[in-house]
Amino acid sequence: MSKLQNAIVGGVRAVLSQVPAAWLPGATPDPLIDKRVTLGTQQSRLDGPDKVRGAARFAAEVPMDGLLYAALVHSTIARGRIAALDTAAAEAAPGVALVMTHRNAPKLAVPPPIGLTNLKAAGNNILPVMQDDAIRWNGQTVALVLAETQEQADHGASLVDVRYDVAASRTRFEDGKADARTPDSILIERNRLLKGNAKKALETAAHRVDRLYRTPWQNHNPIEPHAVTVFWEGERLILHDATQGLNATAGSLAKVFGIKEEQVHVSSPFVGGGFGAKALWDHQILAAAAAKLAGRPVRLVLSRSGMHRLIGGRTQTEQRVALAADKDGKLQALLHHGYSVKPLHSACDEQFGLTGRSLYRCESFDIVQHHVDLDVLANTFMRGPGEAVGTFAIESAMDELAHELGMDPVELRLRNLPDRDPVSGAPHSQHDAARAWTMGAERFGWHHRASAAANRNGEWRTGMGCAAGTFPYVRMPGTSVRITIDGNGQATVASAAHEMGMGTATVQRQHAADRLGLPLEMVSVTIGDSSLPFAGFAGGSSQTASLGAAINAASGKLAGELLRLAGNDTPLAGLKAGEVEFAEAGLRKIGDPARHESFISILRRGGRTDISAKGESGPPLEMLKFSMHSTSAIFCEVRVSDVTGEVRVDRLVGAFDCGRILNPKIAASQFRGGMIMGLGMALTEETLFDERSGRIMSASLADYHVPVHLDIPEIEVLWTDIPDPRTPMGARGIGEIGTTGVAAAVANAVFNATGKRVRDLPITLDKLV
Ligand code: MOS
Repeated sequence: MSKLQNAIVGGVRAVLSQVPAAWLPGATPDPLIDKRVTLGTQQSRLDGPDKVRGAARFAAEVPMDGLLYAALVHSTIARGRIAALDTAAAEAAPGVALVMTHRNAPKLAVPPPIGLTNLKAAGNNILPVMQDDAIRWNGQTVALVLAETQEQADHGASLVDVRYDVAASRTRFEDGKADARTPDSILIERNRLLKGNAKKALETAAHRVDRLYRTPWQNHNPIEPHAVTVFWEGERLILHDATQGLNATAGSLAKVFGIKEEQVHVSSPFVGGGFGAKALWDHQILAAAAAKLAGRPVRLVLSRSGMHRLIGGRTQTEQRVALAADKDGKLQALLHHGYSVKPLHSACDEQFGLTGRSLYRCESFDIVQHHVDLDVLANTFMRGPGEAVGTFAIESAMDELAHELGMDPVELRLRNLPDRDPVSGAPHSQHDAARAWTMGAERFGWHHRASAAANRNGEWRTGMGCAAGTFPYVRMPGTSVRITIDGNGQATVASAAHEMGMGTATVQRQHAADRLGLPLEMVSVTIGDSSLPFAGFAGGSSQTASLGAAINAASGKLAGELLRLAGNDTPLAGLKAGEVEFAEAGLRKIGDPARHESFISILRRGGRTDISAKGESGPPLEMLKFSMHSTSAIFCEVRVSDVTGEVRVDRLVGAFDCGRILNPKIAASQFRGGMIMGLGMALTEETLFDERSGRIMSASLADYHVPVHLDIPEIEVLWTDIPDPRTPMGARGIGEIGTTGVAAAVANAVFNATGKRVRDLPITLDKLV
């Protein structure tokens, strides 16, 4: 974003640095950090049984009368115009109801871009959708066929004949680097960071490394493809969608179709994995437009290749990391420069330039990143955006530095851990990376590394590697919940929040039960629908904290409402909200358990069937005053074949310093899933572009390799469980950090095994033979 944004954020930070911490959110540590009953216990997912039985209904499974199925025709050129478009054969094919092209598509506005400044925007690819004959990327939709069955739609799509006037396009990363843009800011941070004299330190230091690292384009492959079932009721648009942004999708579609936000209803109770991919892309817009044109409900399920062509992945990067250190391994300079693809029509930064700002204490910094504009689909966020690729570069370089110093890589990290924010000097809210390193090293048996390096078993050489992971704490403003207590004392928590497999309802039910002094069975959580109280995007590993803050706020208001209703004929008479606490299914005076009245009793006396209160998460000012980052220590053991160059990961340990863990069963699974994505990044995942045409050549799971069960070793997950006193429940987000650091740990283990340094992901066997 802009210089203005830098000035505003800088100004707010400057003010907050003078404001006493006691005035900011989290000033009083959440009592639930210690007073936990169900939080911290192993609870199975509420949605588990329905998913196992096939009873959980996903967007493509909602039954509907009169449904038409959609199939898409994708452009085969990167840039140019549609010269001729013959739809006659498709229209005459059996079962085909309609073919939509730019000639008959309804007039649509451009979707508003997803970002931190507009919580009601979800657009990723900021281009007009099917409004003219222009082609902007290879894979753009040029026609949509509606038919009575999916097979008929697919057949119809195969009959659409398109001719193009091809224009010159830029699809090579190397070509784009020459005039790359240097944005003023990356997310909400200043892009260019110069602190101290890194240039001099790099020239004069006793030890230094200076290397280029490359990571490829990658595509999201959630188990559930992008899907939408959509219909119009007059001017009301109703979508069953797979989305991580219910209200943002509704708000964006309202803008696109020129209707009011309240006229769009989005339902998404279950999402089969999102990882950043499931915001607003062309397919929801196309399906809604086609439903309008046809006057019938439409279902659009992207094929796996359709996902690769229409849903932007993680951009490729080229990163230079230079490190300087004194003879004791103390860091004197950290230089991190690099390029990623961000077309002008993309809304998402790949913020790798932020990674090195929190990991290590260092005398000087020189950091900047550049955006390469190509004629390709907009890139987007993919689990751990920025940090996933940033830690590969920095943590590989740290390993190279340790080697150069002749120092143990764990020791090198321990010597450089920061005791405050390395750049701003702001205090940490909580930070104990040292504990994570110690715990992880012990569990892994890191001290065996020296002898293991010489290990050889036939053709297999063994090696061990480690790396740090990191991810910031994020809490979103504007996320709200309503808590209702009924006449039976049963509580319901409602919010337009998202369930993409991370256990949202399960964990917030634990939270609300502890917050309201209720047993688990007395609490239910309703999420997954845009008509519920507004919630922000489930991204940036922020949803648990945002909902947590909203539940906390709502419970405070609920106490006030209950006291008002209780009146004077109650043991609670005369008390203010600050003087009572939730306990034993009711309210009681703090420090005087005799003054208690139950919810049921209060409601009965007040002649009410229920009582409710709404609360909102509020501005996350603590994020601007404190340095709030989670960290991890990842350890990996690999075998590499001398004969084929194959890499087998035998062991993987992750030790995480991520605040309090709320549900160990779900958290372990969340961390493991993240680490498996890290293994994919390390060893197999790579989108192959034909750089002459910008065409993705690997648009299937046969060509784009995600790890399968046989690739995955035993994965051990540990955590420090040290609460962050500034966050709801003492917890920080854990959705993305698992992916960070893993690729470097694998690459470093491969180096330890073979002496070969692979700086270009993925580490395929051709790079090792
Ligand atoms: Mo995440 S990549 O913010 O869904």
